[in-house]
Amino acid sequence: MEIPSNVFIFDTPEQLAVAAAERFVDYEYAFHGEPERFSVALAGGKTPRRVYELLATERFMHRVEWDHVDLFFGDERCVPPDHPDSNYAMAYESLISKVPIPAKNVHRIIGESDPEESAKLYENQLKTFFAGVSWPRFDLVLLGMGEDGHTASLFPGSDALAEKTKWVVATKPEGSMRYRITLTVPVFNQAARIMFLVTGAGKAGRLAQVLYPRPDAGPVPAQAIKPVDGSLEWLVDSAATPLL
Ligand code: 6PG
Repeated sequence: MEIPSNVFIFDTPEQLAVAAAERFVDYEYAFHGEPERFSVALAGGKTPRRVYELLATERFMHRVEWDHVDLFFGDERCVPPDHPDSNYAMAYESLISKVPIPAKNVHRIIGESDPEESAKLYENQLKTFFAGVSWPRFDLVLLGMGEDGHTASLFPGSDALAEKTKWVVATKPEGSMRYRITLTVPVFNQAARIMFLVTGAGKAGRLAQVLYPRPDAGPVPAQAIKPVDGSLEWLVDSAATPLL
């Protein structure tokens, strides 16, 4: 089957991370000298860490006007900001603590307090930043995908996945003891650019299912990501592509 034109395959995760960092810098460059700020929703999990590390290197850091960048989070695990499972902690260690981004430009999801309250708080924070609009429009959204096809903290069959009005919700994945907080599908789909980062053989089957939807197979959350008026790119490594 023909590989969709918005799927970019890299031999190694490192090559993928370099390409993702290049894209970040290229997209941000368009905002240089402009009053608008470059708003980004960061992905969590393990795959994006290398992208964040690269953005904090000499090769990339100086090409970004960090005081014009606003970093948000697509989702968070309900843990303290220094917890090993915190997406904020991962982004802080690998990027935020290493680049000259003003603290006020980093919009953390409060993982350590009541999940419902934190979800409301983050929605209000987004509504303040993206004032006067029915939906926020991120300039760039980074997403990963789990082996079950979940993305951000939008898990198969969850209420969070079906949310149609809220911008941010708290959700407890099936079988998990811990809540998560996630932006919703309508929010992601308003973005100007969405970049999926997918590596590893464990995701090959799901990736093929997402890219080549079969009528007999139920939808998976990553398939719900369809930008209304924006671009969608899949950056994948060759280990994840044997079924394409
Ligand atoms: C999270 C992410 C989640 C992640 C996938 C893939 O908070 O965990 O938002 O959706 O992107 O689970 O995770 P890996 O990159 O670790 O494989």
